[in-house]
Amino acid sequence: MSDSLTIRRPDDWHLHLRDGAMMHAVLPETARHFARAIIMPNLVPPVVTGADAAAYRHRILAALPPEMSFQPLMTLYLTEDTDPDDLAAAHASGLITAVKLYPAGATTNSASGVANFDKVRAALERMAEIGLPLCVHGEVTAEDIDIFDREAVFIDRVLDPIRKATPGLRVIMEHITTSDAVDYVRTAGDDLAATITTHHLVINRNHILVGGIRPHYYCLPVAKRENHRLALLAAATSGETRFFLGTDSAPHPDTAKITPCGCAGCFTAPNTMSILAEVFEKANALDRLEGFTSLHGPNFYRLPVNTETITLTKGAPVTYPNTISVEDEQITVFDPEFPLHWSVTA
Ligand code: DOR
Ligand code: ZN
Repeated sequence: MSDSLTIRRPDDWHLHLRDGAMMHAVLPETARHFARAIIMPNLVPPVVTGADAAAYRHRILAALPPEMSFQPLMTLYLTEDTDPDDLAAAHASGLITAVKLYPAGATTNSASGVANFDKVRAALERMAEIGLPLCVHGEVTAEDIDIFDREAVFIDRVLDPIRKATPGLRVIMEHITTSDAVDYVRTAGDDLAATITTHHLVINRNHILVGGIRPHYYCLPVAKRENHRLALLAAATSGETRFFLGTDSAPHPDTAKITPCGCAGCFTAPNTMSILAEVFEKANALDRLEGFTSLHGPNFYRLPVNTETITLTKGAPVTYPNTISVEDEQITVFDPEFPLHWSVTA
């Protein structure tokens, strides 16, 4: 196997950049390697209108170090009050690339999400009409559903009914964590794709809970059993175009992670490409890394692939800082718990 791999510059199809000082700290970590990213709208308050997205995009570009190039692909946060005309106008002007559906209460800053799916029917129908894709956080929030079952139940109770009721709606099931989701996405037509995170290819639920509780491995959807991780790994390395990278890199200060009620999120932006190269090499699928990180996403989103390239080189183990600083806080970088030999060198 060659010790160097040149691929088209990757994109991240699910990223949390936050705002303010945190955004200034984490944005270069993504822009260093990635050309574009789908920017999650779960700020406080959320990015709900076209005007919100335009202002947020402006703040992101203003925070970008001048020597870096990066294109934020903006999304709007779907609420029960979303105006379909506002969505359509933001799409027509090229401002937004997708709309994000959070079931109310499913995760960090999702209080304004959707509780009654009938109330977003008109918006979804308009999106299907104009070809605006829907990104979905696929977990039910019903209290009687076990947290490890919430993704599988969401497919049956919410996602499948929405797709059947809205022909033509193009959906991305984001950060899938189960073999149920892999199977479901495979049975669907070409109007459904899924993103897979870096961390869900590495950890299972034991990483969170065995030998002491490890808050930095806690994210949502929560990592599942090993058989599910293996199904995700098989999907990511299969070469199937319906699976592509969305890191869900989700920075939180350590003070918000290491606390009796800690936030969900793994911060993988700095070392994602190193980890993925290691994971794909171990799976004997290095030749499929480019599809997963750089080709399948643009194909589904109907965007051009990037023309620039990056080169990964294999050598002695590379290390990344354990944390990055934001003002007087630290954000812990995801630790895959295995040595990394690949780094982006050009
Ligand atoms: O782990 C997560 N963190 N999952 C999400 O869906 C949201 C994200 C965040 O915003 O921190
Ligand atoms: Zn997310």
